[in-house]
This record gives sequence, C-alpha cells and structure tokens, in this order.
Amino acid sequence: MKTFIVSLSLILSATVLAAEIPAGEHALGTRKYGDFEKPEACKSCHTAIYRQWEQAMMSQAYTHHWDEIEYWDLAVPHSEKDPFFKDAADGCNGCHAPLAYLAGDVPPPRPSENSRANESVSCDLCHSITSVASDPVNFNWVAEPGRTKYGAKEGLASPHHITEYRDIYTQSEYCGSCHNEMNPFGIMVKSTQIEWTEGPYAKEGVPCFVCHMPKAPGRSAPMAEEGMVAQHVFLGAHNEAKLKSAIELSIHPDEREVPYDGTLRFQVELFNAKAGHKVPTGSVEDRIMWLDVRAVAEDGREYHLPVDLKGFDGEEFTVAADELAYVDMGVPLGLKDFKGVQRDGVPVGNRIFRMPYLDENGVMTIQQWNTRSLGVDYRIAPRETKIEHFTWSMPDDIAFGFVTVTARLYYQKLVKPVADFLNVPEDESERILINEASTTIEVYD
Ligand code: HEC
Ligand code: HEC
Ligand code: HEC
Ligand code: HEC
Ligand code: HEC
Repeated sequence: MKTFIVSLSLILSATVLAAEIPAGEHALGTRKYGDFEKPEACKSCHTAIYRQWEQAMMSQAYTHHWDEIEYWDLAVPHSEKDPFFKDAADGCNGCHAPLAYLAGDVPPPRPSENSRANESVSCDLCHSITSVASDPVNFNWVAEPGRTKYGAKEGLASPHHITEYRDIYTQSEYCGSCHNEMNPFGIMVKSTQIEWTEGPYAKEGVPCFVCHMPKAPGRSAPMAEEGMVAQHVFLGAHNEAKLKSAIELSIHPDEREVPYDGTLRFQVELFNAKAGHKVPTGSVEDRIMWLDVRAVAEDGREYHLPVDLKGFDGEEFTVAADELAYVDMGVPLGLKDFKGVQRDGVPVGNRIFRMPYLDENGVMTIQQWNTRSLGVDYRIAPRETKIEHFTWSMPDDIAFGFVTVTARLYYQKLVKPVADFLNVPEDESERILINEASTTIEVYD
C-alpha cells in the first residue's frame, strides 16, 4: 500500500511537472544546450534520415545566408534602436535556433562561431516535442528532452533511447507551432497551417507530413524492422522540383482569328494543383509569383502584354509598377531620408500573386516584425483557380500571319531589388519558372 501511495504521488507530481513545462516565450532560458543530443548522435543509426535532414532548410534555419542577414542586419539593430522589438528579435530564435532560445543564449553567437545554435531545427529538438500548448503559433510546442524520443509509431525498440508514441506527430498542429507566427502588433505574419485548416486537405485528412515527409518502404535504422519510413526531405520553395507545376496554367483566346486592326481577348487559368496551402505561403513578405504574357508575331517581333485590371480594393499591389517601397529598412540600417528600393522588380503591368505587408504608413515592408496591417490577399488557395484576362489592341506594325501568345508563371523567394540592396546571394532571388502555356491565333488583312 505504501509503495502504491508513493508511486501514485510520483505519477501525480510528474503530471504536475509536465503541465508546468513552459512553451513559447515562457521557455526562454529554461534549458541547457547539453539537454539536447547533437544530430551526429543520431547519424550512425538513422543515416538516411540524417542525410535528408542535412540538405533540408530546417537544418540551416539559423545559418542560411538570408536568415543571417535579416536577423543581424535588420532585426537585431532594429531592436537595439527600439526596445519595443526586443522580444520579437529574441523570438526569431524560438523557431530558427530553438536550442539557443531554450538555453537563453540570445542573440546567439554568429553562425561563423560554430556554436550549437547552428544545429537550427535539429533532430532532438523535434523529437523531444510532446505537445503543442494551445492553437499552434509562435513556437508554442512543449519540449521534454531526455532519454525518450517521441514519434508517430508505437512500440518501437532502440538500443540508444526509449521511444514513445504521441498523437501530435500525426497532426499538422505540430508543424503549425513554428509555421504560424504572430508579430508584436498581433498581425499573423505567417499562417501556413491556418491556410491548410481552411482548405480541402484538412477536411480530407491530409496533413503536412503526406506532402513534406512522404513515406517509402525501408528501415529507419540497421536493427529496425522493414516498414514504411517517413522521409525527412522537407522540400519547399528552395527546391525547384517542388515548386515546378505547383500551379497549372492554361490559356485560350476568345477568337482564333483577328483582323490586323482588331482587338484580341484571351484568358489564362491558374490552378493550385499541388500545394496544401496558399501559394506563396510562409515568408509571404519576401515571396512573389507573377504572370508574364508575351505575344510573338510572324516576323519575330515580341510584344509584352499587361493584365486587365479587375477593380478590387488594393489591386494596385498586385500589378507590377514603377514604385518605391521597403522604406522602413532605413531605421535599422541607420540611413537618414532613405527613399526605399523598387517595390516589385518585374515588368510593369504583370499580375503579381502576393499579399502585401504594410508598415505604419501603409508602405510595403519585408520586416515582418514591423508589419501593422496586411493588404489584399491575392494568392492562390489550395485547389483554387484564378482567371486573368487580357485585352490586346493590335499594334500598327503587327505582321500578318500567326501570333503565338505565351503565358509564363515565375516565382521568386525574395523580391530582387531588396535582395540586391542587402547583398543577399543570387540564389535567393533567382527567377524560377513554375509553368508556361501557349496558344496561337492568326492576324488577317
Ligand atoms: C544505436 C542506434 C540508434 C541511435 C544512435 C539513435 N536511434 Fe533512434 N531508433 C533506433 C531504432 C532501432 C529505432 C526503431 C526503429 C524501428 O523499429 O522502426 C529508433 C526509432 C527512433 C524514432 C521513432 C520513434 C517512434 O516511436 O516513432 C525516433 C523519433 C528516433 N529514433 C529518434 C532518434 C534521435 C533523435 C536520435 C539521436 C538523438 C536517435 N534516434 C539515435 C536506433 C537508434
Ligand atoms: C521538423 C521536425 C523534425 C525534424 C527536424 C526531424 N524529425 Fe524525425 N520525424 C518528425 C515527424 C513529424 C515524424 C513522423 C512523421 C510521420 O510518421 O508521418 C518523424 C519520424 C522520425 C522517425 C521514424 C521514421 C519512421 O517512419 O519509421 C525517425 C527514426 C526520426 N524521425 C529520426 C529523426 C532524425 C535522426 C532526425 C535528424 C537527422 C530527425 N528525425 C529530424 C519530425 C522531425
Ligand atoms: C497537398 C500537398 C501539401 C500539403 C498537405 C502541404 N504542403 Fe507545403 N508545399 C506543397 C507544395 C507543392 C509546395 C511548393 C509550392 C509552394 O511553395 O507553395 C509547398 C511548400 C511549402 C513551404 C515552402 C513555402 C515557401 O514559400 O518557402 C512550406 C514552409 C510548407 N509547404 C509547409 C507546409 C506545412 C507546415 C503544411 C501543413 C500545415 C503543408 N506544407 C502542407 C505541398 C503541400
Ligand atoms: C521548431 C520550429 C519548426 C518546426 C516544429 C517545424 N518547422 Fe519547418 N521550418 C522552420 C523554420 C525556421 C524554417 C525556415 C528555414 C530557413 O531559414 O530557410 C522552416 C522551413 C521549412 C520548410 C522549407 C521551406 C523552404 O523555403 O524551402 C519546409 C518544407 C518545412 N519547414 C516543413 C515543416 C513541416 C512539414 C513540419 C512539421 C513536420 C515543420 N516544418 C516543423 C521551423 C520549424
Ligand atoms: C513562429 C516561428 C518563427 C519566428 C518567430 C520567426 N520565423 Fe523566420 N521563418 C519561420 C518559418 C517557418 C520560415 C519558413 C517559411 C517559408 O518557407 O516560407 C521562416 C523563414 C524566414 C526567412 C526566409 C528564409 C529563406 O531562406 O527564404 C527569414 C529571412 C526569416 N525567417 C527571418 C526571421 C527573423 C529575422 C525573425 C525574427 C524577427 C523570424 N524569422 C521569426 C519561422 C519563424
């Protein structure tokens, strides 16, 4: 009886302790780096998973060049000039360098110093997560590092650790704890998991893992049983193959034949066939996707065709223009009378699929922590089709014969004028062709 009471009170106190394990910003400084095993400790057995993770962006969340630039050149100096942003700048690490955040080591040493902050979103951080505290947002996972590694399978045996099943490893909330973010003004500056809950895939029971951790036959460790193993590839916008054809394109004219002084009308359909959330998603302050339409006449001359306006509120942000923006970068950079840089950097008149993040003056910003409001949401939702119209009055010099009209959809992770201004390496602002479609008409006398 006595042992029963003792063990019961042990269980009770363990439950109370578990309930009190802090999540989100309450977890700052509650752990030590040494509480977590290094990814190298998992490599000898989980070799394939280690090699996959090593190539994924989450293993570079703290060290990747653009992350380093935005954190050290913008977020940290901004918080030094205006202490209101201190928690937000520290909070970057809650998702990008979680071990450093838990250890209270913020700002962490720079990536070049090779500290354990560089482990970024590591194996042991993810596999010490036992639950998500409430609606997923702002790294509000609960991490209980130690001998037990948590996962999506029941009853596995390992010589290195104890394994335990937790429901959260089958739920998108797990990913949402870092892939939804609210800034200090209460604005949702990242909503990938929320977009997913609002779309068809949540209703059909297709969580993030299905598309980002596809399962394949094999074994996860040499001493494991054969089975279906979750591949830790986490492909996203940094992988061209993942982006390619995410949106399907088609194009057709109203008429196949147009007089040389007539007007050609046609439309382009854009269908989000592949993504479980909007496109673009995630770092929406940085990302743009745009439709570029060109007609090539019989004589080889090329004409760039601007999109027809639809007339909705905020549409001006969705059509490429010769405008300056991103003026608020002047504050952290210490530039007086900074006028900003080009807003879009793509041919004027092209349709841009984006959601603008606006500063206190209603000017576009890439500083998500400084965002006061969100503009029109003109992104493409999962399985949504958007239609764009074009009206083209034949130019005076049009050649008789066939004209091929081609629509191309491009994607850019970081708007080019900002990337160039901040010296972010080229690969972050490369223009990626997602899809293209053509149609042919004939111009007659
Ligand atoms: C000595 C070999 C070995 C090492 C080292 C090792 N593991 Fe494992 N691990 C295993 C084996 C074996 C299994 C069971 C696999 C099976 O049967 O499918 C396993 C299973 C797992 C699971 C699945 C748990 C579940 O219930 O779904 C996770 C998660 C895991 N390991 C994480 C880690 C992490 C993180 C590290 C490094 C900190 C690590 N392992 C190091 C051998 C190892
Ligand atoms: C972003 C969080 C995250 C990271 C980082 C991560 N994992 Fe996982 N891991 C998961 C989730 C979620 C699952 C379960 C996925 C499923 O079953 O759909 C999983 C599954 C596993 C499994 C079981 C695989 C199976 O299906 O049998 C092992 C083993 C494992 N992880 C080891 C590791 C190791 C080792 C690393 C680092 C090299 C690592 N994980 C990094 C989230 C993560
Ligand atoms: C039906 C498949 C599918 C599901 C479900 C899905 N995704 Fe995606 N995801 C994609 C595709 C395709 C892309 C590439 C196109 C793009 O960038 O949007 C992508 C891209 C991403 C990106 C990169 C975005 C960027 O611009 O950097 C992130 C991050 C991401 N997904 C996270 C998630 C999370 C978190 C969930 C669950 C809440 C999820 N995905 C559910 C298919 C899916
Ligand atoms: C501890 C926080 C955390 C958790 C949990 C987490 N992520 Fe991430 N994820 C990040 C961060 C931070 C990045 C950005 C990496 C970078 O800096 O480019 C990222 C990047 C990604 C990308 C790559 C996007 C690109 O631009 O290529 C994908 C895909 C992704 N995560 C999917 C997932 C999925 C699926 C889950 C759930 C199994 C998950 N993440 C859980 C923090 C997290
Ligand atoms: C709630 C978690 C979270 C917080 C807090 C957070 N991030 Fe992120 N961050 C992410 C995720 C997840 C992604 C990947 C989104 C995607 O792929 O589109 C990301 C992407 C980025 C990227 C783009 C990376 C790339 O290669 O395209 C940069 C730069 C970045 N974050 C910087 C910051 C800075 C600076 C802060 C603090 C002011 C911050 N983040 C706060 C989760 C977070």
